[in-house]
Amino acid sequence: MDIIIVLDFGGQYAHLITRRIRDLGVFSEILPFDVNLEKLKKKNPKAIILSGGPGSVYDKNDPKLDQEFFQFTTEKKIPVLGICYGHHLIMHLLGGKVESKETKEYGRSNLIILEPNLLFDSLEKEQIVWMSHGDQITKIADGFKEYAKTDTCPVAAYGNQEKLLYGIQFHPEVSNTPNGNKILENFIFKIANCKKEWKLKGWIDRSVQEIRREIGPDNKVILGLSGGVDSSVTAVLLHKAIGDRLHCIFVNNGVLRKNEENEVQQTFREKLKFKNFHYVDAEDLFLKKLINIEDPEEKRRIIGHTFIEVFETKTLDLEKVYPDIKYLAQGTIYPDRVETSTTSKVSAKIKSHHNITLPDNMKLKVIEPLRDLYKDEVRKVGLELGLPNYIINRHPFPGPGLAVRIIGPIDKEKLTILRNADEILIEEIRKAGIYDKIWQAFCVFLPLKTVGIMGDYRTYEYICSIRIVESMDAMTANFSKLDWDLLERIGTRIVNEVKGINRTVYDISNKPPSTIEYE
Ligand code: XMP
Repeated sequence: MDIIIVLDFGGQYAHLITRRIRDLGVFSEILPFDVNLEKLKKKNPKAIILSGGPGSVYDKNDPKLDQEFFQFTTEKKIPVLGICYGHHLIMHLLGGKVESKETKEYGRSNLIILEPNLLFDSLEKEQIVWMSHGDQITKIADGFKEYAKTDTCPVAAYGNQEKLLYGIQFHPEVSNTPNGNKILENFIFKIANCKKEWKLKGWIDRSVQEIRREIGPDNKVILGLSGGVDSSVTAVLLHKAIGDRLHCIFVNNGVLRKNEENEVQQTFREKLKFKNFHYVDAEDLFLKKLINIEDPEEKRRIIGHTFIEVFETKTLDLEKVYPDIKYLAQGTIYPDRVETSTTSKVSAKIKSHHNITLPDNMKLKVIEPLRDLYKDEVRKVGLELGLPNYIINRHPFPGPGLAVRIIGPIDKEKLTILRNADEILIEEIRKAGIYDKIWQAFCVFLPLKTVGIMGDYRTYEYICSIRIVESMDAMTANFSKLDWDLLERIGTRIVNEVKGINRTVYDISNKPPSTIEYE
């Protein structure tokens, strides 16, 4: 299958480029800019894209490429497209000149295409593009042609057809460049002649074959299933491949949402006919360990460690009955593990569904069938494999669950109050048809009592904070500017229907500086 490699120069856009290329039907992966050339060669790329990045090419310490890189791409006739920093870098290394500009250029620009060329094929002469740079090319290298300019940027795009080197100053991968996809399409299909082979249906079939080959005809697999998207899709994929040789362990850690344990069991046991779905009720153990624990990090640590303890014990029990359990499956997805120049130091960690590293001494081989997929690809695979919509489009839920949505020590009474309030919130959000449009909606229990009045009685009860945020990736988030009537309905219902709460507040903080969760 054709593959396009995106070399990451530390920009925030490398994943976005890869995603766009996959959406266009060609497989794409990210490698750090300083990847060993031999490793790059082994990938046999059909084309290479150099991403943007925060550096300046004339700064000695900023990332560069060796001349061998260009020897390799020219020799093998592999087209290279530099974007922003990548655009500067090609020029800088091959004889052009890049200089710092007095006025930086950020935002919309009007691009004027100077002569017909494949990169801008079938585009109008003038294009809106998104710029974000402080440097620009002041002299173009021999053998290169200027393809486009803007009012303030004389070399906004260039090409060298003989060496198959291209550069664009703007970002085609962002939606603010309306025809950005067309430019990427031209590059991958008209210049690099890639074939459209990346289709999820085909991926599922291949992946099923691969899993069967790896696991063999007899071995069994264990999976920690949380009911979140990643572990659920891992489960259905493995189930398709090896059927009931998949053993799922679902741990009730006592801090789940209302009815969650039943819903997940019903989905997998009854709807999807999983025979080896093992439910472990560890509520009492978790809650006992969490008594009087106030510090958020301590809560997280206890929940993480207890999860491992429970999971390990259950696995050992199962191994006694099923000695063929040889594999541990994990719902790791591409962004969790990919090595990019910004994340390489922390990448490649093994995650469980609670983002915890499971101990090596479990002596199981790890299998991560979703390791190459992005989240929305994972969702599509799940839908294709029959997972219900409510699991596929679920809002993210932290591993430590409601424990980090109750400020201070937790107990059963507070958990019940929070579950009841949260249920109303989600019900109203779904009724209003906005569940799928927002990133997360949840309630937080504030352990503060205030005075209220109900009928003729004075009340003295807790406060519930309502948190609803919109976000693309959880790195930043804005509170949702909800309709007042809807908010009023939610608040009124919670106070009227949930015993223990007599006041609700709406959280109007954005991230940063606040976080989405409270602890
Ligand atoms: P914050 O609160 O840092 O959250 O703005 C960012 C996103 O991550 C989720 N979150 C977690 N997810 N384990 C998880 O799997 C955790 O421990 C955890 N803590 C926060 C949070 O819900 C939000 O979507």
